Amino acid sequence: MKTLLELITMEMRGAFAKAGYDEELAKVTLSNRPDLCEYQCNGAMAGAKRYQKPPFMIAEEVAENLQDSVYFEAVDVVKPGFINLKLSPNCVSDYLNEMAAKEKLGVEEEAVPNIIIIDYGGPNVAKPLHVGHLRSAIIGESVKRIIRFKGNRVIGDIHLGDWGYQMGLIITELKRRRPDLPYFDEGFEGEYPKEAPFTIGELEEIYPTASAYAKENEEYREEALHATYLLQNGCRGYRAIWEHIMNVSVTDLKKNYERLNVEFDLWKGEADAQKYIPDMVQMLKDKGYARYDEGALVVDVQEETDNKEVPPCMILKSDGAALYDTTDLATLVEREKDYQPDAVIYVVDKRQEMHFTQVFRCAKKTGIVRQEVDLKFLGFGTMNGKDGKPFKTREGGVMRLESLIRDINEEMYKKIMDNRTVEEDEAERTAQTVGLAAIKYGDLSNQASKDYIFDVDRFTSFEGNTGPYILYTIVRIKSILAKHQENGGGLEELAVRPAENEYEKALMLQVLKFNDVLEAVYEELAPHKLCAYIYELANEFNKFYHETKILSEEDEEKKSGYIALLVLTRRVLELCIGLLGFEAPERM
Ligand code: ARG
Repeated sequence: MKTLLELITMEMRGAFAKAGYDEELAKVTLSNRPDLCEYQCNGAMAGAKRYQKPPFMIAEEVAENLQDSVYFEAVDVVKPGFINLKLSPNCVSDYLNEMAAKEKLGVEEEAVPNIIIIDYGGPNVAKPLHVGHLRSAIIGESVKRIIRFKGNRVIGDIHLGDWGYQMGLIITELKRRRPDLPYFDEGFEGEYPKEAPFTIGELEEIYPTASAYAKENEEYREEALHATYLLQNGCRGYRAIWEHIMNVSVTDLKKNYERLNVEFDLWKGEADAQKYIPDMVQMLKDKGYARYDEGALVVDVQEETDNKEVPPCMILKSDGAALYDTTDLATLVEREKDYQPDAVIYVVDKRQEMHFTQVFRCAKKTGIVRQEVDLKFLGFGTMNGKDGKPFKTREGGVMRLESLIRDINEEMYKKIMDNRTVEEDEAERTAQTVGLAAIKYGDLSNQASKDYIFDVDRFTSFEGNTGPYILYTIVRIKSILAKHQENGGGLEELAVRPAENEYEKALMLQVLKFNDVLEAVYEELAPHKLCAYIYELANEFNKFYHETKILSEEDEEKKSGYIALLVLTRRVLELCIGLLGFEAPERM
């Protein structure tokens, strides 16, 4: 199904052509003065110079050709040469009914699906999840759902940080505490225990203890580094501990992400990429891409057009150890082998942008990925507290994700209990649903690349541009529809009828924009635009609601038209929040 912008652009092109002007001028956009018109075309201005004619004249000639158009109720020419458009109520209701008949509400899938990998989440195993990882999970999940909705084959990969120094630290601390364990007995040849020698609670204590200790104690640090080296070079006992750490951590991570409504297709990590490193390094040397620089193996990626320095990609340290660059390159080797993706999108803190510039350039230059692969860095800003500094706990420590979620849920619970529309046992579940929406919407409604302030009071408010406000609107629609059904009314086979007043039309126009907005959100990977859209949609709905007797409308046909419009509005809203990664409760 064509979007409305596409349809009326086609109409406009015809009008330009008929008047003897280039159709390319006939670009229609949403009006930025909704008080004056709904859509507009500024093509006459663009054509003035070319045709040596006042724009107003061109506009009038074009407008003349639109007088009989089924799309428009009014086509006005305004000085110096704008063409202002108002859609006819019939065209609007017809279009909405057509949308309602489609499963995807008029959004077209890609004719040829792309294979797209999204690298997001990126938690570090055995370290607690903190708010920094929250943004990657929230934004990545939404981007994944949007791209998938457009009919692409999307693979979400969590890309665990599971191969680093933190593993050596845990092994070292475990050895200090329990030297008797078989993992530390070099002569041990039997099978290691199936049961991990720690619980997740212990693991979460071991890591920070070891990390703090290593900062003060040089010898301990050396030992941890050495343990990391042994693990990475095949020490059997350490590998067995590593497996335990992975099992315990991943089980816990899965629980956490599930609570966030975030789902990965792949649980691969840095460790999985290691086996591709030796061949890759050999290739880089054989083909002459890599050179030695003070003992380190590097690939130059500076380009002539750069106006700042882009340091070489680091492949191996002088002691032969692989680095972050190496792992990300090897992961691309693996992804090429397993999926041949059309694009790989990395949703990572924008402070890592240079790293990805280096990796992408190196991968393209050396043929690790095909030239046509679109490697995209979707960098996000920092989540700050109300003081404008990176988010901290009240005590000033790093805020753990769990605590943050707990704080929000408590706040939500209080508000929901105050509302008294839900029973106590339901209130807790509802608080979780609404709390998650508060967090996600609070994040996604900002342009991803910008820093933003995490403000619990504002995010949990039922008013203003917030997740709870959106949910409240959906719940309101659901409750009207439920009452309508209680009164014996049906929700199926209803048709939207041409709008009869401005509030109704404004709501319809906003619903109508859905597929046009979705195209832009998809093209730009911009969930914040979807948020802005549903905020406006919720506003238009609420205005309409306050101005209209819906259930008490006596004219049955009119009422059925309203109900159809409500059903469609709810579908659009629910679809959109689904793409943002949250859902609405029944009551709140
Ligand atoms: N684990 C990393 C971190 O916490 C993020 C990983 C991002 N993805 C990647 N392919 N490097 O900073």
